[in-house]
Amino acid sequence: MRNFKSMITALFLFSVLSLHSAEIEVLHWWTSGGEAKSVGALKTMLEKSGHKWKDSSIAGGNGVNAMTVLKSRAVAGNPPAAAQIKGPSIQEWAELGFLANLNKVAKANKWDKVLPKRFADHMKYKGKYVAVPVNVHRINWMWVNPAVFKKAGAKIPTTWKEFEVAAKKIKKAGFIPVAAGGQPWQEATVFETIVLGVGGAKFYKKALVDLDMKALKSKTMKKAFDTLRMVKSYTDKNAPGRDWNLATAMVYKGEAAMQFMGDWAKGEFKVAGKKIGVDYLAVDAPQTAGAYLYNIDSFAMFKQKSNAKTKAQNKLAQLVLSDKFQTIFNNRKGSVPVKLGVSKMPFDDIALRSMDALNSAAYTKELLPSMAHQMSVNDAIKGAIVDVVTEFYNSKMSSSKAVKKLASSVKAEM
Ligand code: BGC
Repeated sequence: MRNFKSMITALFLFSVLSLHSAEIEVLHWWTSGGEAKSVGALKTMLEKSGHKWKDSSIAGGNGVNAMTVLKSRAVAGNPPAAAQIKGPSIQEWAELGFLANLNKVAKANKWDKVLPKRFADHMKYKGKYVAVPVNVHRINWMWVNPAVFKKAGAKIPTTWKEFEVAAKKIKKAGFIPVAAGGQPWQEATVFETIVLGVGGAKFYKKALVDLDMKALKSKTMKKAFDTLRMVKSYTDKNAPGRDWNLATAMVYKGEAAMQFMGDWAKGEFKVAGKKIGVDYLAVDAPQTAGAYLYNIDSFAMFKQKSNAKTKAQNKLAQLVLSDKFQTIFNNRKGSVPVKLGVSKMPFDDIALRSMDALNSAAYTKELLPSMAHQMSVNDAIKGAIVDVVTEFYNSKMSSSKAVKKLASSVKAEM
């Protein structure tokens, strides 16, 4: 009798759950070891809540490939239910009428209170939430293998001058000074870090956020290109085409001394079982201490005809901003919670330093959106900047020419 009763209860629960459950397709580009482990937490939590996750992962760092796929699917009238979209692109997609309004779930979960206004604003279109933020990544880190530095008798640099001194020693000792990935977005990541270092926060904002023509054409920008050329001279010949996570592996394997990359690199050190302070260090990229180039990942939901799917989307959005997900995901991913008030206890030293840097940079106005990671300017302008950087990086173009080209390419897209 008791068995019969529990069978009926189970059947009842199952039918209730399946009535309200739905499968949602989630398009993202988190395919490296650390990234896949991180997004896995969201899949598990969604499925525990009774819904189904249809994975649509498109390999390719920075989402370049994922965005191409998303655009063609949207044009064909077949977008996924949820997709990783960020920065000003969120507003562009909303303006085209694709995105669902998340205000109901936002209100119920007090997003306006639990999110810093500046980050919440990235998620809104005409005052309504159309995306949910996942995390905050810091771009201007330098990942270091301390053993390689020691073997080369080099000092970890805090300025670009010191960088050159250290890189020379490292090269002489038979190591690759900088582990570089050879894709346009990676070159642009190094470039924007250098722009911040060489020019400072005010200059970065003028040039890569406000698109001030004078700043784009300035001597300081020329110096940034010169510095990029100098950094490139300390990379290896096999860099072209290399994925970012393979470059990270060169650092933890002791083949290379440094990598300039956002803190998703930490996710790779972690899945490889490497220990902070022993196997690797994260230090501020030269001349960028105190500044914080931010990069926020987010999911936008595409309008659905079925009520059940809309419910599942709202559930996904709610889970993303739960304390539990923010803790598990960001610990694995290398980022820090975007939600205020999440306990700092489970986070490591690098994450705690990122949180501190975030707070102080917000105060000193050195909290800046990343250009290379789609936070500061729209896709067309970002594309124009990245194209110039890549052309410069992979040719013998002079810095003076690069500066002129940068200004004219940006102007053409404005
Ligand atoms: C994303 C990160 C991701 C990285 C490499 C960045 O643009 O914000 O979440 O790990 O690209 O794919």
